[in-house]
Amino acid sequence: MITNDEEQEQKLAYMKQDMEIAKRMSKIKHKIAVMSGKGGVGKSTMAVNLALSLSNKGYKTGILDVDIHGPNVPRMLNIEKEILQMNNEGILPVEVGKNLKVISIQFLLPSADSPVIWRGPKKTGAIRQFLSDVIWGELDYLIVDCPPGTGDEHLTILQSIPLMDGIVMVTTPHSVSIDDVEKSINMAKQLKIRVLGIIENMSGLVCPECGAEIPIFGHGGGSEISSKTGIPLLGSIPIDTTPKTQYNVLLTQNKESEFSNRIMEIINKIEKIMIKKEE
Ligand SMILES: Nc1ncnc2c1ncn2[C@@H]1O[C@H](COP(=O)(O)OP(=O)(O)OP(=O)(O)O)[C@@H](O)[C@H]1O
Ligand SMILES: [Mg+2]
Repeated sequence: MITNDEEQEQKLAYMKQDMEIAKRMSKIKHKIAVMSGKGGVGKSTMAVNLALSLSNKGYKTGILDVDIHGPNVPRMLNIEKEILQMNNEGILPVEVGKNLKVISIQFLLPSADSPVIWRGPKKTGAIRQFLSDVIWGELDYLIVDCPPGTGDEHLTILQSIPLMDGIVMVTTPHSVSIDDVEKSINMAKQLKIRVLGIIENMSGLVCPECGAEIPIFGHGGGSEISSKTGIPLLGSIPIDTTPKTQYNVLLTQNKESEFSNRIMEIINKIEKIMIKKEE
């Protein structure tokens, strides 16, 4: 049983951590979460490619992987063997190139196939520690890759980060994905967090021979939610057919691809939304 004194102590520690989070987050200009009610629609792929493209454009960028049970970001960036280091100011994120800092629970696991079997409070604790103890430093963008659904991880992120800029929702054209995305949009509404826009991923396959787009998973799911909710459609990303030499190779490696062009168009739209917000 928890005594009154212990309860008071816990509350105090939580408030202190909130202050620490506010201090660290105040150095980050824009904080954006990538979400979707549905699994496997390409949230991590979008989060990684958006973060990489922002960093390639010269923005100081961070990517926080809060998928505790399926942390895919390190693998997508080919840094899954990295181990987190600490100094007396906190935890040092793993750096990729000049402008990208990465944090994931994966860096604390003994191997890529080690499962994390945690209940809600432990997951919440780990995510809050990534916000309060990681030395992100000054950043232009922090992109948060969320797991599927509307659970503890989402609540923690959306409620713990002060002045969150908003959420990018990812869907595929399938109707089951659209239904689940609407649930996430409603969660955002309840928490009063803005949904910046929708990305329709796996939106057709561009024929390498004739350039025609083949809508193998259907078409227009993203614009359908957009017109229903009034949330802008940031873009539609086709299925990338570039031969991959390893699982989840970085899709923007092929700079000439339609995939890369469309990601850049989305980045331009996000930049504009952020500039408008600052005015
Ligand atoms: N546009 C695309 N073209 C080709 N492959 C893609 C595309 N988008 C995603 N993928 C592939 O689909 C798979 C699922 O993508 P990803 O892991 O990003 O989804 P997710 O929504 O993050 O999944 P989870 O819900 O498990 O976190 C990955 O193997 C990824 O490489
Ligand atoms: Mg993912």
